[in-house]
Amino acid sequence: MEKVRFVIDGKEVEGYKGETILQVARRYNIFIPALCYHEEVKPYSACRMCLVQVKKGKRTRLVTSCDYPVSEGIEVTTRNELIDKCRKVVLQLLMARCPNLPKLRELAQKLGVEEQPRFVKSNDDCILCGLCVRTCEQVVGVSAIGFEGRGFTRRVCTPFDEESPQCIVCGACAVVCPVDVIPIEEKDGYRIMPRWNKESKLIPCPKCGRLYLTEDQLKFLREKTGLPEEELTTCPDCR
Ligand code: SF4
Ligand code: SF4
Ligand code: FES
Repeated sequence: MEKVRFVIDGKEVEGYKGETILQVARRYNIFIPALCYHEEVKPYSACRMCLVQVKKGKRTRLVTSCDYPVSEGIEVTTRNELIDKCRKVVLQLLMARCPNLPKLRELAQKLGVEEQPRFVKSNDDCILCGLCVRTCEQVVGVSAIGFEGRGFTRRVCTPFDEESPQCIVCGACAVVCPVDVIPIEEKDGYRIMPRWNKESKLIPCPKCGRLYLTEDQLKFLREKTGLPEEELTTCPDCR
């Protein structure tokens, strides 16, 4: 892989062609806030929290670091007055849309951002980062959920808000949600995901009895891989 040398906050760093600024920054433990990014899915540039300033030749501009490819000699600044101001407004708008999210408040505290009382408050709990939708589609491979509506009414849901036949109740979307608003519960032998109106029976590992896969996951994996049931239902610890 072709190496690329550039600078982040005055420090010389090395990345590879095709990587983004955020990926390299993370490898060097340089903090850039990022709500809609996850290394397992394609960037979507929805939250704008990862804004940084890039100087390339004589030109300086603000870019989203989660999808901006690194190149030789660029100079990246992760914090200055302008960046802080932009991030502050973005975060204040998110807090106005979703006023009761502890994860947003934690981030606001870390960045020294306070709520903006002039912004009209809504009562949502989803920041529309799309990580659940992209994970379901790109990692799990089922597209059980998606965006619906536009502007203020835009939201993530199952088709017609009904129990999605595609959802295999794997829980991957709950794991990636950056603000923890996709509840997942295991009760009486079922895994339940109320946000998607779906539950599925849990199947025990044939060796240790641990409730491991859901019935819907097993059906999906059998069709996809053709592997025998025993192999699929054996939990990672017993393999
Ligand atoms: S639990 Fe359902 S919606 Fe969530 S990632 Fe798995 S299949 Fe998709
Ligand atoms: S439910 Fe969570 S992961 Fe999905 S779009 Fe909303 S905030 Fe993002
Ligand atoms: S993490 Fe880059 S726009 Fe959200």
